[in-house]
Amino acid sequence: FQVPTAINEPIRSYAPGTPEREAVLKQYKEYFDNKEDIPLYIGSEKIKTGNTKPLSPPHDHKHIVGHYHLAEKKHVSEAIKNSLAAGKAWANLAWEERAAIFLKAADLIAGPYRAKINAATMIAQSKNIHQAEIDAACELIDFLRFNVEYMTHIYESQPESSEGVWNRVEYRPLEGFVYAITPFNFTAIAGNLPASAALMGNVVIWKPSDSQVFSAKVIVDVFREAGVPEGVINVVYGDPVMISETVLASPDFAGIHFTGSTHVFKELWKQIGNNIHRYKTYPRIVGETGGKDFILAHPTAKPQQVATAISRGAFEFQGQKCSAASRVYLPKSLSKEILELVKKDIASFNKPGSPEDMSNFITAVIHEGSFDKLAKYIDQAKKDKNAEIIAGGGYDKSKGYFVEPTVILTTDPHYTTMETELFGPVVTVYVYDDKDWAKTLELVDTTSPYALTGAVLATDRYAIEEAVKALKNAAGNFYINDKPTGAVVGQQPFGGARASGTNDKAGSAQNLLRWVSPRLIKETF
Ligand code: ALA
Repeated sequence: FQVPTAINEPIRSYAPGTPEREAVLKQYKEYFDNKEDIPLYIGSEKIKTGNTKPLSPPHDHKHIVGHYHLAEKKHVSEAIKNSLAAGKAWANLAWEERAAIFLKAADLIAGPYRAKINAATMIAQSKNIHQAEIDAACELIDFLRFNVEYMTHIYESQPESSEGVWNRVEYRPLEGFVYAITPFNFTAIAGNLPASAALMGNVVIWKPSDSQVFSAKVIVDVFREAGVPEGVINVVYGDPVMISETVLASPDFAGIHFTGSTHVFKELWKQIGNNIHRYKTYPRIVGETGGKDFILAHPTAKPQQVATAISRGAFEFQGQKCSAASRVYLPKSLSKEILELVKKDIASFNKPGSPEDMSNFITAVIHEGSFDKLAKYIDQAKKDKNAEIIAGGGYDKSKGYFVEPTVILTTDPHYTTMETELFGPVVTVYVYDDKDWAKTLELVDTTSPYALTGAVLATDRYAIEEAVKALKNAAGNFYINDKPTGAVVGQQPFGGARASGTNDKAGSAQNLLRWVSPRLIKETF
């Protein structure tokens, strides 16, 4: 099947004086000064329930940029009804038509909606323009385009036939609807989870994170303009417990596409188990959850390369990437030099500030709960005898939720911040004796229940091979001589194992296969 070849969307520079910079700043100001009123999207309707919550930028939390309307149980039931009503026609649409709709959506984001989706992500998720461009524009465009290519590979995959017999596989969508629960930290992931299931012919109930409804609204407007029919993707916000209970009690629940916390995913899995007798089919359960991602440097590593991996891997995007480095293991012989280089990097960053100032490398963390958690662990490290803060350590929530990029050095490989997921710009470093390389490999493997990303830096080929083998199950995305972040769609399919998820890689044919139920047809002539 010939579809346009997917290539990664080029990242724009937004350098001073460029039209794209003017456009995004204009849109930012417009969103900042106006009050968005964000409805539920159910069937063909945009529903304003009147029961609303305010939206504030994390970097300016007293300022209100809009409201979003909360669903009651009846709206969730209505969304399910609408999705089921839309299901048959959508499933029977030729795959080329579904592909064209999502390719059109990609082009709308690449063109007329680019400033909107970037500005919404800057305002509500406090990303600077480079972060917004990489995530909300380029990565989402890439997901939409590459998934179309992967879909065609799936449809092309057919069994052998013989004379007088034609064996063929029909890749049917799941019978029922798919429930997408999406996170705040990536606009691209939020868009991809409902879109990938819908591309394969499924209808979707989408519940975005409260902190991401602004950019979710832009995405759903794009989907509608691109031609996603009414009822195919329905969006509800509100009490997550009520929404999930209502959705998971439906006999037509056919699968969940989730990115979020390990705790919530396990709770949902239990609920699905409790409801299993109700369902028409065994639901597909696909989730990406927590992480405690590592960087491990060998004594033969290049100090500057390790320092850059730490500064970028731990602090880019405020450390709010599921892939962000949060525990680091350095050999004694290199640790001083590496940590000096990291401190130099941190000293070169501006103080955390508004994403509107495009030179700010670090902006605000997502909300007060996240800020308070980070502040608590930083304060504890200031008091603990086995920990020391060697860079950063400051925080201030008077205007926005600003936390300085912080490095904690510990003498205890099981120190609390070596083990607890913090999801912010705080990294903890443990220095090991060079002769304990083998022991350290075991430590890296066994310290955390998670296994999302990890990076090993070494120039000794033998050491690299040892790490690859010893850490076989410690990361779903494993990086050699690089930072553990920055997976690019079409190049590094992304996902973790152990407590980090079901490892159904985002941006892969394998993920799309979870959203189909193949029917084998044998026809004899
Ligand atoms: N794609 C994001 C990264 O790998 C999650 O950092």
